[in-house]
Amino acid sequence: MHRMKKSHAAALGLMLLVASSCKPAGAKKTLPGHELYAACKSCHGAQGYGQQNIAAPAIAGLPVWYVEAQLVKYRSGIRGAHPDDYEGLRMRPMSQQMMDTGEVKAVAAYVAAMPPMKQPSTLQGGDATAGSGAYAVCTACHGPDGKGNQALNAPPIAGQHDWYLVSQLKKFKSGIRGTHPKDITGAQMRPMSMTLADEQAMKNVVAHISTLAK
Ligand code: HEC
Ligand code: HEC
Repeated sequence: MHRMKKSHAAALGLMLLVASSCKPAGAKKTLPGHELYAACKSCHGAQGYGQQNIAAPAIAGLPVWYVEAQLVKYRSGIRGAHPDDYEGLRMRPMSQQMMDTGEVKAVAAYVAAMPPMKQPSTLQGGDATAGSGAYAVCTACHGPDGKGNQALNAPPIAGQHDWYLVSQLKKFKSGIRGTHPKDITGAQMRPMSMTLADEQAMKNVVAHISTLAK
């Protein structure tokens, strides 16, 4: 049995009572990933490529462990609850569409199985050569190819929208992301954003990341 939220405790108690004799009539089944994903399409798109006008990143093909971890963070307010996190505040209620951890896993598996695609560049004024120097420190976790490393909880960043990468670096640096006391993996990334002196340095490193193949 999955662990349940406090708010579900009463329902769980009732379910256990009934389950001892028979299955409660009308008990909800875990919906399959493709049905759950219907609630994500309006922002992340039918193919999971994201949409700049609503600041929704590409999620197709992100590893299942990362998608699941981020959904769990949004649900519990570890990510996306900072008052200045306008885009995160948009995503947070969506993460609560899933009824339980079973549905979180199901939608994460569906997203991870969607074929990824390298997103077109939009960034102006980034110097990829300068950025490749700044990227040296990032390779330790995200890898020289930007494909990430599960053992270090570092997601793939190659192929992601450049505007999203810049926005997340700004959020880490200003403390909008990665400062919740329970955000262990965000706290690992945050000091790394500090190695980028200013917005120009962020644009440079992202210009380099954009040269990496998905
Ligand atoms: C109303 C628009 C909207 C909907 C609907 C939506 N999202 Fe999002 N999502 C966003 C935005 C905006 C962000 C970026 C938030 C930020 O900047 O931190 C995001 C971020 C994410 C991330 C983090 C990606 C990363 O690289 O860290 C995941 C995973 C995600 N969404 C999954 C989903 C899933 C699964 C659904 C459907 C259950 C969904 N989203 C529905 C807007 C939406
Ligand atoms: C010590 C390991 C480590 C290093 C070094 C590191 N990162 Fe990260 N990075 C992480 C982790 C862990 C996460 C996931 C944070 C989370 O779970 O929210 C992350 C997340 C990110 C994200 C957000 C991705 C998304 O989909 O939302 C970006 C962008 C990023 N890192 C860029 C960089 C850049 C650029 C550098 C070098 C300046 C760098 N990272 C160095 C560990 C690292």
